[in-house]
This record gives sequence, structure tokens and C-alpha cells, in this order.
Amino acid sequence: METRSQWGTRAGFILAAVGSAVGLGNIWRFPAVAYENGGGAFLIPYLFALLTAGIPILILEFTMGHKYRGSAPLTFRRMNKKTEFIGWWAVLVAFVISTYYSVIIAWAMSYSVFSFNLNWGEDTGGFLFGDYLKLAENPGEVGSFVPGVLIPLILVWVIVLGILFKGVKKGIEIANRIFIPALVVIFLIIVIRAITLPGAMDGLEAFFTPDFSKILNPDVWVAAYGQIFFSLSIAFAIMITYSSYLPKKSDITNNAFITGFGNSSFEILAGIGVFGILGYMAGQLGEPVSEVVDAGVGLAFVVFPEIINQFPGLNALFGFLFFASLVLAGLTSLMSITETYVAGLMDKFKISRGKAVFFGGGVAALISLLFATQGGLYFLDAADYFINQFGVALLGLVEVVLIAWILREVKNLKDHANEISDIKLGAWWTVSLSLITPVVLGYMMYGLLKQNIMKEFDNATGNYEGYPDAFILWGGWAVAIGALVIGVVLAITKWKKPSVEDEETYKKEAQ
Ligand code: ALA
Repeated sequence: METRSQWGTRAGFILAAVGSAVGLGNIWRFPAVAYENGGGAFLIPYLFALLTAGIPILILEFTMGHKYRGSAPLTFRRMNKKTEFIGWWAVLVAFVISTYYSVIIAWAMSYSVFSFNLNWGEDTGGFLFGDYLKLAENPGEVGSFVPGVLIPLILVWVIVLGILFKGVKKGIEIANRIFIPALVVIFLIIVIRAITLPGAMDGLEAFFTPDFSKILNPDVWVAAYGQIFFSLSIAFAIMITYSSYLPKKSDITNNAFITGFGNSSFEILAGIGVFGILGYMAGQLGEPVSEVVDAGVGLAFVVFPEIINQFPGLNALFGFLFFASLVLAGLTSLMSITETYVAGLMDKFKISRGKAVFFGGGVAALISLLFATQGGLYFLDAADYFINQFGVALLGLVEVVLIAWILREVKNLKDHANEISDIKLGAWWTVSLSLITPVVLGYMMYGLLKQNIMKEFDNATGNYEGYPDAFILWGGWAVAIGALVIGVVLAITKWKKPSVEDEETYKKEAQ
């Protein structure tokens, strides 16, 4: 008997997929990445990456999940027994991401409360690193727990694991039906207010004015692909897992286009909102926009509080809405990231959802506590950098090369998608997956490995400089390579017996 959970409605699936895609990556990562990489000119590699890698891989993962109806490891195994470890590797990358992603949501939760009294005071940087994070002197030092981070972090896990515990239809689908419309409304309020601020247009000009001198720089392309992969939640097991809950009769291509364009619209809107606000701030300080923009942690938790301080009226409310939007966007993404290993454990070890949530989510939550210590931010920065560069992008490359060139599955999967979808896939899809994406990603990875990673790391994260070598080598590489090694171990582990029955049911149904 087929007992796999299913989405209740098509809208439910689309909302969940959009909820997964729209996350911290859209609101705090995209604006700064776009700005640093040529502003308006960045949109060219960005759109190229979206159309030749983002949406094609999204369609690929939707099709794989729908056709093989399993968590990522089971899907890869059903495609070819030898490739199960790639599914686990993707799941483990998601696992690592969930451990620190949850912490950023916890900070946003605290900051939405701080907004009411503008607790951060005048020195917002001093407040973040000193009063709030109680940051250790040196990277690598753990120090003690920081209760201000620990308490919201526990809350984040209680909410996410509670929703996952309720299941696909009653948990994830319902939560997204509530969170996503709320997020859209809050975000539209923020963006409209942002672009009507005095000076907003200067910000938008800074954002959109293309710097064409950057467009031939390979780093800009790396940034565009990295952004698309992270933002669309592709190449880390998520979309395969979510689409494995689709009913047999589902449209794949159309759903992927809606998800892909919905996510990018949100992202560009976030860029407009953030830069409108930065333009206002620059005007107040009498400085150029380039002086006030900052990346990652700095933008959301140092620059924004500063702007909220100066906001003309209702600043507490505006601050609350901004951080609440980060929390909502983050929670819906974290649910999908965590569901990858919940589903993987359920399939492989035949345990109940409750147990999988308890063990998988429990271990992730425990590890995430490391980031709630005084040294947390340094660990978080290193994990984020390595897992993105050598986890997600490399996995994307391995996935397309495997499917297009080793297993030669492109045609099969195309036929499967075309049979059930309105929009039919043709040469664009095949060429993107078999040629353009492997060549561009292959070149990117070659460049990344060739570079002196150590030197690059200092500046690349945008947060800190001067990490000791051992911290990078042991911490960073251990995270990136550890995921692959554990993936291989899990793949060699025997499947719990009853899954063989599933295999037979699945094969019968597939005929
Ligand atoms: N896709 C999610 C984000 O953009 C992970 O944050």
C-alpha cells in the first residue's frame, strides 16, 4: 500500500515551494550580493543563471521527486542504486544549513522584539556584537551560552519541529498557507513605505545603475549562480522531497515557473525595498549610498537598526515588520530544509514521522546550540561560507553531470514531465541541463579550487577578516567534506526491510 503523504491542493504545494524558496537569502543576501557585483549589471548573469540553471534544475528536481516519489536518497537510489550517496550528501548539506539558518531566524526574532523600544541604542554595531551576541575575542573560542540567542533559538526549533510533526498536509501546508500571505502583505507595506521615503530614488539609482566593467569578472558569475541555487532551494534535496508529496496528477513545469519567477520577483522587490531605505539613510547622513551599504549580518542587524532609529515616524512598527518578515520567510524555508532529513530518515529506517522529527530535528537543534555561544558568529560564518561554496554549487554540478551524462536520464525525465504538464519541455531544457549548466558550473568550481581559498576567505564572507588558518582548515573543510563522507556511510548502510515492499508497490504503480 502506498502510504506516502500528499499535499492537499495544488496551491498548497506551490505555497510550500515558494515558502521554501523565499527566505533569508532573498531579503538580506540578494540586495547586498547584487550591489557588490555590479548592481544593474548583475541582473544579466542573474537572469542567465535563473533561466539556464535555476528553473531547469527546479523542473528537474520536481520531476525526479514526482517520478520516483521518495526523499532525496530514495529518489537517487530508485534512479540508480549507486547514486544513493548523492541524495544523502544533499540531505547532509541541508542538515548543516539548518543548524545555522535557525540561529539567524532566532536573531531576527529577538530584533523584532527589540524594535519596540529601539533597544539597540545609537551604537548598533556595538550592540549587536557586544551586548547581544557577546562575541568572543577570537574565532575558534566557544565561550558560554548566550541566553538572548539561546531562548529564541529553542523557540524556532519548537515551532518548526512542531509543524513538521503534524505532517505534510496538516503541518507544512497549513503553516505556509498562513505564513506566506502574511509575509507578502508585510513585505509590500515595507517596500511601499521604503520607496516613498525621501532619498529613496538615490538608493534605487545606486542599485540599478549597471557597472558593466564587472560583467566579465568570473566572480560575478559565481555570485549569480550561488545566489540562484541558494535562493531557489535547489541542489540541497529540498525540492525533490517536496515534490515527492505531489499527487500523480500534477503539473510540473508550470509549478516550477510559478515558483521560480515568484521567488525572483520577491528577491528583486527586496532589493528595491532595501535600497530605497539605504538611499534615505545616505541622504540623512549626507553620504553616498556606497558608504552605508553592508553585507550579510551587517546589513540586517547593524545598518537596519540604525535606519529604524532615524525613521520618520512609526519606527518601532517599521522595525517590527522588517524583522517579522525575516522570521516568517526564514521559518517557511527552515521547515523545508529540515523536512529533507526527516523524510530521508523515515524512508531509510522505516521510522514514524514523530521519531524522525525527534531524532533528526533533535540532533540539528543540539548542534545549532554551538552557534548560540559567544563564539557562535565565527562558526556560523565559516559553516555558511564553506557549505555554500563547496556544498550547494558542487552538488548542483554533480547532479546535472550525473543525470545528463552518466545516467543519461534527461530524455526519460523530460518525457515524464511532458506527459503531465501544460508547458512542454524542449531543446531549451535539454541544452541548459546537458551543456550550459555543466560548462558554467564546471568552470566555476575549477576557478574556486584553483584560487588560494585561504586568502579569498578573509574577504569573501563580508563579515570578518583574519581567521586563523587552522580554524578554516579544520572547521570549514571538515563541514564541507564531512557531509560527503557521512553521506557515503549512510548509503552503504542497509535499508530497513519493509522498504523492499515499497519498492515493489512503487514499481507496480510505475508500470
Ligand atoms: N531558499 C532559502 C533562502 O533563500 C533557503 O533563504
